[in-house]
Amino acid sequence: MSGTTSRRWHGRARLRAALAGAVLLLPAVAAMRPVRAAETRAMNARANERTTWDSVFTLVQAERGQAAYAKECARCHAAGLEGADAAPALAGSAFQGAWNGQILEELHARIHTAMPTDTPGVYSKQLVTDVVAHLLRANGFPAGAQELTHENGALLGIRFVATRPGARTRAAQGARVPSTR
Ligand code: HEC
Repeated sequence: MSGTTSRRWHGRARLRAALAGAVLLLPAVAAMRPVRAAETRAMNARANERTTWDSVFTLVQAERGQAAYAKECARCHAAGLEGADAAPALAGSAFQGAWNGQILEELHARIHTAMPTDTPGVYSKQLVTDVVAHLLRANGFPAGAQELTHENGALLGIRFVATRPGARTRAAQGARVPSTR
């Protein structure tokens, strides 16, 4: 066997081994693909997700919600949202702690299906959506240019986040921080 033949033979053997490896790997890669797709979808959903800090309701809507609240909810939860007897407060740290991390769909569904406790289910979805806007405003979340809507699963994509995110990021980007002097 000359040196050239030997090198060529080794080269072919390597190629064959590489091909065999690829053939063995293909089904494994194919099997991984659905998992990857699901992961990607979940990551996209998280990336597209908004929070209660993203100006998800309008002031006009919150005022409409406030009027509806005064008419429908205040008799149990009190006019200033502070709660009374068995009806808990709907503003403040206890309320924010209870709903922190949940999606707005849950809050909406809770009100829509369980309120008022004496005759549950009488409120329209739109009324509940407007009242949720009022609750968000009363809990210190910012209003914006677009109304909150319960349509097309929109409330599934908005998370109730109690503390404002990114304060440190803004400071790091050179936003004015209050002086300690
Ligand atoms: C008849 C009295 C009554 C009325 C009217 C009423 N609620 Fe309630 N609500 C309660 C009671 C009692 C509870 C506590 C028991 C429960 O969660 O079912 C409660 C609980 C809640 C909760 C859950 C609070 C938490 O942090 O767990 C929310 C949110 C809520 N109400 C919102 C509303 C809104 C908004 C309206 C008006 C659209 C409304 N309720 C009307 C009595 C009432």
